[in-house]
Amino acid sequence: MKQLSGNLYYVGAENPDLRIFDIIIPADCGTTYNAYLLRGKKTALIETVQDSFSEKLLENIREICDISEIDYVICNHTEPDHSGALAEILKVNPDVTVYGSFAAIKNLKNILNTEFKSVAARNKTSLDLGGYTLEFISAPNLHWPDSMFTYCPELKTVFTCDFLGAHYCGCVTDEDIPDENAYERELEKYNKYIFGPFGEAVKNGAEILRGLCPEMVCPSHGPVLKKGINKVIDRYDKWADPAVKPGKISVFYVSAYGYTKAMAEALARGAEKAGADVSVYNIIETPADVLEEAVNTSSGYMFGSPTLNRDALPPVWNVMNMISAVSCRGRNAFIFGSYGWSGEACGNLAARAEGLGLKVFDEPAKICFKPSEEDLAALEKTGGEFAAAVGFATADIS
Ligand code: FEO
Repeated sequence: MKQLSGNLYYVGAENPDLRIFDIIIPADCGTTYNAYLLRGKKTALIETVQDSFSEKLLENIREICDISEIDYVICNHTEPDHSGALAEILKVNPDVTVYGSFAAIKNLKNILNTEFKSVAARNKTSLDLGGYTLEFISAPNLHWPDSMFTYCPELKTVFTCDFLGAHYCGCVTDEDIPDENAYERELEKYNKYIFGPFGEAVKNGAEILRGLCPEMVCPSHGPVLKKGINKVIDRYDKWADPAVKPGKISVFYVSAYGYTKAMAEALARGAEKAGADVSVYNIIETPADVLEEAVNTSSGYMFGSPTLNRDALPPVWNVMNMISAVSCRGRNAFIFGSYGWSGEACGNLAARAEGLGLKVFDEPAKICFKPSEEDLAALEKTGGEFAAAVGFATADIS
């Protein structure tokens, strides 16, 4: 427990041993589940913690008041690392009224599976605690549809849940960060994994915060921001700049005997002749970070795979797995590959591309064993046509 400002207290929990968050996100410095208690005439708990840390939350709160004295719980975002302990709070004090966005209250009904008092907070409405005010600000898709900010004007403090957070453990505020370099690394990594697909929402969030000019930002992971508010807002804002380069095409392929490679090179030649900026990647010879950069910055993809045991090769699937179904939606894709007798790879890749929301160009180019000179000429022509489609389609990319 730490008094942050006025009658605002930090009551969250540390998880220094965490190394993987949400199944796939590396957390080399652990994390914190931040929760805050604000006491006016009424008392509000802002965020809770993951359920396995419920006891720690209750213990921290009890250093300040009895759980029965909590009047409100504010849920700015309902992912269970922040809403998990709400069940325990409600068990001890069923009179609590929970505030959240409409989407948040709907989520909580399906997370708690029990009756509870709730208010769906409209944008720009407020809650008077007596001495302190909580103003609710809609900020959806940071990073769930339910997200909102809560602002306390008397303390010039905004509660942002995941936004401006980082998986970093070891201090309560950014005035006491033990390893600034490690924090910077975790901040960027957190932003990439959590907010990477939501650039537009991030820019909206940054604009809201700049308008508030807060003196303190209380996120739900990592240090409370006091001295570094503008720096972190600027970083988040910059990382949200669109990465895609109109007209850039990446050709990804694997090839055992050079047949699919020859197809890749013919397609690339055609696209280049049509004026596209084309890069060709033999996937197994290319570092993952280079492939990821190509995925993020390209407005068109070509995927080539031979067929092995009725499917595409795993390295090609790995690159497809780098495509975000949110931020890469609407980009263009073309599928090709050499095969021996059945050739399922192309159809499987095309189906996955469609599932990711890519615009799949034409039927895949499937060639039995080695492409002939005529085949290569036809592929060159197809590459040019694909480049034209990418050029026309870039205006639709958001
Ligand atoms: Fe920290 Fe989206 O939960």
